[in-house]
Amino acid sequence: MDGRTDELFDAALAVQANAHAPYSNFPVGAAIRSGSGRIYAGCNVENVSFPEGICAEAAAIGAMVSAGDREIVEVVTVANGEQLTTCCGGCRQRIREFAASSTPIHAAGPAGIRRTFTLGDLLPESFGPGHLAPEV
Ligand code: THU
Repeated sequence: MDGRTDELFDAALAVQANAHAPYSNFPVGAAIRSGSGRIYAGCNVENVSFPEGICAEAAAIGAMVSAGDREIVEVVTVANGEQLTTCCGGCRQRIREFAASSTPIHAAGPAGIRRTFTLGDLLPESFGPGHLAPEV
């Protein structure tokens, strides 16, 4: 793993500690490196009205867009447990909005990255912004 990925993992692990996950007890952290080189982190924020909770990836994307960045070049998610946790289906589509099919998405546990996928691995044959682009 290169140093920049280490840095992204550290950001995801640090923000996982801030997760508000009292209902699932499943804290998740996500960190995004943007095209500008900046890192944006987010954690899951659950709600007593369960469907109103948001995923860590959605929080990180919100931070990125709010700061004016629009391109995702690398993602790390951190979750606990024996099973590998990858981004949920909804978050794969959220990442798709701002990433390429070759964009790496690393699935990590607290000890480090466990597996690396591309967005195309996780969301093949996807629907993306280009589908709504005007024909030329
Ligand atoms: N969760 C995430 O934040 N990201 C994922 O990739 C998987 C699931 C959250 C949503 C919910 O707060 C908790 O994990 C249990 O589903």
